[in-house]
Amino acid sequence: MTYSHSHLLGIEPLAPPDITAILDLADQYADLNRRDVKHSDALAGLTQINMFFENSTRTQASFELAGKRLGADVMSMAMQASSIKKGETLIDTALTLNAMHPDLLVVRHPHSGAVDLLSEKVNCAVLNAGDGRHEHPTQALLDALTIRRAKGRLHRLNIAICGDIAHSRVARSNIMLLGKMENRVRLIGPPTLMPSGIADFGVEVFEDMEAGLKDVDVVMMLRLQRERMDGGFIPSEREYYHRYGLDAEKLSHAKEDAIVMHPGPMNRGVEIDGELADDINRSVIQQQVEMGVAVRMAAMDLLARNLLARRQAQTGVMV
Ligand code: NCD
Repeated sequence: MTYSHSHLLGIEPLAPPDITAILDLADQYADLNRRDVKHSDALAGLTQINMFFENSTRTQASFELAGKRLGADVMSMAMQASSIKKGETLIDTALTLNAMHPDLLVVRHPHSGAVDLLSEKVNCAVLNAGDGRHEHPTQALLDALTIRRAKGRLHRLNIAICGDIAHSRVARSNIMLLGKMENRVRLIGPPTLMPSGIADFGVEVFEDMEAGLKDVDVVMMLRLQRERMDGGFIPSEREYYHRYGLDAEKLSHAKEDAIVMHPGPMNRGVEIDGELADDINRSVIQQQVEMGVAVRMAAMDLLARNLLARRQAQTGVMV
C-alpha cells in the first residue's frame, strides 16, 4: 500500500489506503522510537523547514524530533520574529524560503486555507500542522494510530468527540478520518459550540453527555478554544465543567474498556478531570503524544519518497 499524494494538506483528499499506508509505516517508527538508538536515514540530505505562525508546543517539537530522527536538516523559523511582522505576505515568505531549496515545509497558520494556498507556490512537499478551524491532519492520524493500537482495529467503533467542536480543526479532521474508516461518530456539546451545517457531517449529535457517551469505545475530549471565541459561548467554566467536563461518573456511561483521549493542551477542571487524565488505565493521552512523533516520521518519509520519485522522473537522473 502506498501514499500517492505530493502533500499532506488535510484528511479530506485522502482515501482509506492512504491512511492505512501512513499508519502501517508509523507503527514501525513507533518501534524504532522505543529503542536506545532512534535513528534512520530516510530523510538524510533533505532539508525540513518548520514555519509556525501560531503558538505550538507539542506539534512543533514533535515535527522537529521526527525530522531529526530521520536524519533531515531541520530548521524551525520563529515566525513571530520574522519579516511577517514587517508586512511581508505569507506568499513572499514562502517564495523566499522556496529559493533556499527545502524539501519539506511544515506549516501552521491561523487562517483556514492558508497552507493549501502556500502549497501551490512552492516546489517541495507541504505538511499542514493546523490551519485555522480547517484541518490538522497529523493530529487525526496520530489519534487513529493510538485508537488502532489500543482497540486492535480502526473500524466499527463508536467514538464520541466532545466539547468545543465549532472551533476545532482537530474535530474536523477526526470526523473525516473516522468516517472514512467506517466508524460511528457522535458529537457531544452545547449547541453554541456545534458548527453550522453539522447535518452534512454524517454524525449523530447529542447535547447531553450521559446519553451521548452511552456504550462508546472511545471518548475524545477537546479544549475550550477561547482564542477563537469572541463572546459568550458558555455560561461559565464551572457550569461547563458540570455539564460537559469528563469525570469518572460521566465516563461510567461509556463501555467499561472505553479509552479517554485529548489532543492537548488540556484545561484540567474545565473539559476534563485532572485525575482521570492521568489514570493510565483509561487515559491514552501520553500514547497520543508518543504516536505523534511516529506518525510525523511516516508522513514525511512517504512524502519524501514521492518527491524524489517526481524529481527523478522530471530530470531522468537519480537524485
Ligand atoms: C490542537 C491544535 O493546535 O489544534 N493542539 C495540538 O495540535 N496538540 C488542539 C488545541 O489547540 O486545542
